[in-house]
Amino acid sequence: MLPPADDGTATALARLYDLDLQDDPGDLDLYLALADRADGPILELAAGTGRLAVPLATAGYRVTAVDLDPAMLVRAHARATAAGIGAAGSGTGGSLELIEADLLGLRLPGAGTFALAFLALNSIMLLGSRSAQREALATMAAHLAPGGLAVVDVWLPDADDLARYDGRVILEWPRTDPETGDIVTKAGSAVHDAATGTIVLTSLYEAGPQGGTPVRWVRSDRLRLVAADELAGYAEEAGLRVELIAGGYDLTPLGPGAERAVLLAERPGG
Ligand SMILES: C[S@@+](CC[C@H](N)C(=O)[O-])C[C@H]1O[C@@H](n2cnc3c(N)ncnc32)[C@H](O)[C@@H]1O
Repeated sequence: MLPPADDGTATALARLYDLDLQDDPGDLDLYLALADRADGPILELAAGTGRLAVPLATAGYRVTAVDLDPAMLVRAHARATAAGIGAAGSGTGGSLELIEADLLGLRLPGAGTFALAFLALNSIMLLGSRSAQREALATMAAHLAPGGLAVVDVWLPDADDLARYDGRVILEWPRTDPETGDIVTKAGSAVHDAATGTIVLTSLYEAGPQGGTPVRWVRSDRLRLVAADELAGYAEEAGLRVELIAGGYDLTPLGPGAERAVLLAERPGG
């Protein structure tokens, strides 16, 4: 991500992240199914506001969720509390431990014990270099038990998408923020740099009460594009065995025109 936001901005951007994600990406069922297959604790890297980690814990799984943004974790904590989940557990046997940390170079005390480790919803693109992206897979491999599964989900924009990313501003949505009652509009602008394989994505939010003066929040992320074969290469370099590269959350194999790649790779030895 580009320069760290101050506390007030970070808090607002975390709230706006959840407002954005009212458009459900539809990936929760995949992680619930993979959690069911896994026999042991789950690690989510770059877990954000707990959109996936909290429902997994609610469903009875033991989840550790790591993120470097404290404002995102504050929301994850509130979401977990509202769902009746704590580090100590819940009635379903599920639990959620939230850890503020950079996933790069991370080695938790539970390294080597996780049955499932995942990096959801394009988070790998926020790691701005090939070496950082490679390191993310190494972090996952280091935390998996033998036989454990790593999952990475990444967006694959096509040539038409990239051609449109010339800096033009597009209105994405107007919404009412259920927490504040404010009317919020989101506009976005993207610039693709083919030389570096990056997209700078700028989101402009204006939020305020009906008839009142809006406040503007700006978020800017530099996304490094990742091709499916590059992702598989990272996994292999981390000592993982690629089980599948799917083209969507239903795990149909990747084919031409797929908008995303979902990598499933196993730590050998299980
Ligand atoms: C697109 S959000 C995804 C959140 C969540 N996984 C989801 O699917 O809703 C990306 C998250 O990655 C986190 N992040 C980015 N770089 C990170 C790093 N190096 N270590 C840990 N978290 C990171 C950001 O703080 C942000 O919360």
